[in-house]
Amino acid sequence: MQHFITISNLNPSAFLTLLEKAQNFIDHGHLIEKPLLRGQTLATLFFEPSTRTQASFELAAKRLDADVLNLSLANSSTQKGETLVDTVKNLEAMGVNFFVLRHTDTVMEHVAAILNRETHLISAGEGKLHHPSQALLDMLTIQQAQPKFENLSVAIVGDILHSRVARSDIEALKLLGCQDIRLISPENLQATDLLGVQHETDMDRGLANADVVIMLRIQKERMFDIQIDSEAAYIEHYQLNQARLALAKPNAIVMHPGPINRGIEITNDVADGLQSVILKQARNGVAARMAILSACAAD
Ligand code: CP
Repeated sequence: MQHFITISNLNPSAFLTLLEKAQNFIDHGHLIEKPLLRGQTLATLFFEPSTRTQASFELAAKRLDADVLNLSLANSSTQKGETLVDTVKNLEAMGVNFFVLRHTDTVMEHVAAILNRETHLISAGEGKLHHPSQALLDMLTIQQAQPKFENLSVAIVGDILHSRVARSDIEALKLLGCQDIRLISPENLQATDLLGVQHETDMDRGLANADVVIMLRIQKERMFDIQIDSEAAYIEHYQLNQARLALAKPNAIVMHPGPINRGIEITNDVADGLQSVILKQARNGVAARMAILSACAAD
């Protein structure tokens, strides 16, 4: 695997291999350094803010013994008008051979096309379309609770329209054979590109007997052309609270990619409750990213 930029580039067997690799890192020394990337240099280029993705790629790379360069883009020459391609080619010329890139625009295919054969590009989030490493860690977290994807009912709730997590999770769930995916949101936050997936505006109906509930944040930074109803109305109809969670299966897990808007899409008691696996997702993020980097290194 030279690059890791979309889930759609993977077949089920490749995806299952990544899941197995990630679980192995957890089972056999998640915290122990494995020098699979010794002598390699990884640069993180984040054109949007991040806590979890950037930190976990850095930790993953360091645990695999890579040199890591975190570019501070606020102080980089992109501020003087340098193009993304020029930035990447200059860093590649210095010996960077792994790029972890987050960008607002659809740029991954273009960047992948200008890299040398030995250089790897890993998406850390691309506009509203792709967040493949989040999908891997999400599937790992689901698999740890519910190993048979084909029997699962998964509800994804919130700002579907602007969510790259929803799109990549849907691709991954389908790849793993999940038959029952429900997208729950107000009408104006549904996504017309997600044809063939069940949309539901009534959260109570959508949550009925779900095994997995994935909550999403309202992405105000992407809402250029959409108005949401008042915050109070959104909370009334789409906040996950204990009463709503009780409509899902008793052993349902609650997920959220983060960052959480506490008190908006989810109440504190649910976010921090016994059914929440939100911090497990963050923890699994390191192993998932170790799996991605080591699969690229083996290419
Ligand atoms: N889930 C996620 O992408 O979080 P960050 O924006 O903090 O990386």
